[in-house]
Amino acid sequence: MSAHFVGIDVGTQSTKVLLVDGERGRIIARAARSHVSLQDPATGRFEQDPAVWVAALRGACQELAAAHPREWQSVLALGVSGQQHGLVVLDERGEVLRPAKLWCDTSTQAEAEELSQRLKRNVPVGFTASKLLWLVRREPEHAARVRRVLLPHDYINWVLSGELWMECGDASGTGFFDSAARCFDPAALAAIDARLPDWLPPLAEANSLPARLSARGRELTGLPEGCAISAGSGDNMCSALGAGAVREGLAVLSLGTSATIFARSERPVRDPRGWIAPFCDAAGGWLPLACVMNATAAVQEWTQLFGGTREEFEAAVLRAAPGAGGVSVLPFLVGERVPDLPQARASLHGWQSGALTRDNLARAILEGVAHSLRLCLEQFGKLGLPAEELRVVGGAASSPAWQRVLADVLQVPLTISQESETAALGAALQAQWAHSCARAGAQTEAARAELAAMLANVLAPHMAAAARVEPDRTLTEQAADGQAQHRQRIALLYGVHA
Ligand code: XUL
Repeated sequence: MSAHFVGIDVGTQSTKVLLVDGERGRIIARAARSHVSLQDPATGRFEQDPAVWVAALRGACQELAAAHPREWQSVLALGVSGQQHGLVVLDERGEVLRPAKLWCDTSTQAEAEELSQRLKRNVPVGFTASKLLWLVRREPEHAARVRRVLLPHDYINWVLSGELWMECGDASGTGFFDSAARCFDPAALAAIDARLPDWLPPLAEANSLPARLSARGRELTGLPEGCAISAGSGDNMCSALGAGAVREGLAVLSLGTSATIFARSERPVRDPRGWIAPFCDAAGGWLPLACVMNATAAVQEWTQLFGGTREEFEAAVLRAAPGAGGVSVLPFLVGERVPDLPQARASLHGWQSGALTRDNLARAILEGVAHSLRLCLEQFGKLGLPAEELRVVGGAASSPAWQRVLADVLQVPLTISQESETAALGAALQAQWAHSCARAGAQTEAARAELAAMLANVLAPHMAAAARVEPDRTLTEQAADGQAQHRQRIALLYGVHA
């Protein structure tokens, strides 16, 4: 029997687990369990209890263990991907002290502004840094008991192995990490709390296997003794691996609750505007990334308003004409990151008599998200990182309505990945890569070459099945006008020249 690997992605909405055949890259089986969140839109609070992730992981793993016992028992290594930026704090017994504040929590805006001023660089509210300063200031009774600070995927690694580590990819999203030097930033640590250096675990290499499953991890997952655990990373970093983005020029658009655009880079990238985050990747390189906070979640507004289904929403989008009869939406429901407007809320524009139909509103919502993404794509070009190819991944990638609107507004050809769970797939591929590096004793250069070859091989069937969507070139001018209007409305409402 061939070797098997497991990829786990602890996302915002759910935890997904994939069982992957290492030789052919075939996904043998998958299981998922959803998460509940603790939300208060008035304050921007958005939290999850890490126990919810562990319960979801157990449920999904036990389902796969029961359905594929032979393959499950031959798993050599697993990798964990996780929603970025979330703050998990542990006490001296390794117990979670309070629910995790997530990437989409905007309640720490005052702390983010203060850190940005003190560090003289933009520290987005979504990043971990402001959540930690918030905890120190607003919950001193919890802060006094903190012994460890972790990100969501680090916490799952801890639960599975009893070992603590971080790695550069996810750590680069904390806001207290120096991505160029690939180490924590002493000035940022000091600006948050003098105790922070002691709360952080050591950093592991991207191609290492820092631990094996503990007895608790085996009981939780049903995986065999000896199953190794790779470094793991943030969901976008793992998604880059799962989408095969290991060379420059190939950008990935990941459509989930938020939408991100990212591309592999051989060098660290600094964006003076602060729109493109200078992240590290999950394979020893860098992953400049732009994130818009409002993507598929914006669709729910329409379905709730009209009591319709997602399918009805998509049909409505495709019925409406491009430009949505002049109706447009700035879809900043939970604030926005590009441009940096954490306190913004959504707004409707261009409502002329008779134009606000269900169909036009549906189209205007998607066009609004697409215009935000076009801002990101243009910024990549300005930084010398033009996207020759845009691979679309994530839950909404297979939707014809999203594909049509994105191709027409962005005016670039899209390749649609057939695999939507690229983050979990990437985590499994990282585990496979680390496992083969450990066997071969590979050094960094050889290890990189090994990863590129492995990805090309394993991902070839997925990519061969990818569909291509061409933009309608008769809409080039209309899309440019729509983009200019999007910028103007942002300038008018928020005084920001996007
Ligand atoms: C990226 C970001 C989101 C989360 C979603 O910076 O905040 O994409 O990673 O899980």
